[in-house]
Amino acid sequence: EMSVMELEERVRGVKERMGSRLFLPGHHYQKDEVIQFADVRGDSLKLAQLSAENRDAESIVFCGVHFMAETADILTTNDQKVYLPDMRAGCSMADMADINQTEKAWDELMSLFGDTIMPLTYVNSTAAIKSFVGKNEGATVTSSNAEKMVSWAFSQKERILFLPDQHLGRNTAYNLGIPLEHMAVWDPILEKLNYEGNLEDVKVILWKGHCSVHENFTVHNIQQVREDYPDMNIIVHPECRREVVALSDDAGSTNHIIKTIEAAPSGSEWAIGTEMNLVNRIIQEHPDKHIISLNPSMCPCLTMNRIDLPHLAWCLESIEKGEPHNVIEVEKDVAVNAKKALDRMLERA
Ligand code: 13P
Ligand code: SF4
Repeated sequence: EMSVMELEERVRGVKERMGSRLFLPGHHYQKDEVIQFADVRGDSLKLAQLSAENRDAESIVFCGVHFMAETADILTTNDQKVYLPDMRAGCSMADMADINQTEKAWDELMSLFGDTIMPLTYVNSTAAIKSFVGKNEGATVTSSNAEKMVSWAFSQKERILFLPDQHLGRNTAYNLGIPLEHMAVWDPILEKLNYEGNLEDVKVILWKGHCSVHENFTVHNIQQVREDYPDMNIIVHPECRREVVALSDDAGSTNHIIKTIEAAPSGSEWAIGTEMNLVNRIIQEHPDKHIISLNPSMCPCLTMNRIDLPHLAWCLESIEKGEPHNVIEVEKDVAVNAKKALDRMLERA
């Protein structure tokens, strides 16, 4: 067993020797033992933008999940290689929309609505889904620009199909003034559109996917906090269910949550509904504020957590030795169309 200090030394060593040839972006949900080595920390939008701008690093070791590493590969040049320290670091939400299901859904929706739909996908999706969306004139969105992108989509088409997170889609459309009665849910397992009213009225088609972390925050958690701490502000991520967002004081992307707590006065009280590694870090960074998790028995995102110090050290050393493990390479024809979807977002973000 390698001690933590030895592992940290190995990571530090590779970073020093490789210098700017190596770039190490880290998502805010990563463990402390990993994020301490990140060259930049960010939410998915910021990390996508920084990967697109970086032209120095020949190796990008992505401390996040698989779809983020794919996005980095799509946005960087051919001679830049992207690695994921543990290939098992997927995202259960991204896995809820596979390309075959999506193509089937699209055919069915085309027969119901004709050419009136703009597909949008949350960046938390596979490269194949981004490519499908790019081919069909649509764009990606992240939690920080979802409103902007949904508004744009409605300037182009009468309806949108929002993949794969029904909650982000519903919360975003709701904030833009679209009533819930105009939203339908596509069930990819039953291959069926769930909608009670007149099809003509459907404005938003939500893919039936969710984040297994954020879906665990409940109305009960909110009631409990309101009861125990009447002065507490509740802030949640828009991947939470509609009813949870509705009862909270504020909702926004990872970045919005961090900025809001930073700007909050000393002594203020906050219950945060997002991933635990991030909540714990925010708690540590603000000893002058009273901060708790909206659900204290919450687990961190298990796939984010698969990136740990041993995998990071192992991956970095394999790259330095010239025998790299875990390269993420998106197929050319998939990458070309996925990039169109990403570029449509990055132009407007
Ligand atoms: P953001 O980084 O866009 O807030 O997304 C949250 C998330 O679930 C990432 O996996
Ligand atoms: Fe996927 Fe949710 Fe984990 Fe983000 S927090 S990687 S959306 S499962």
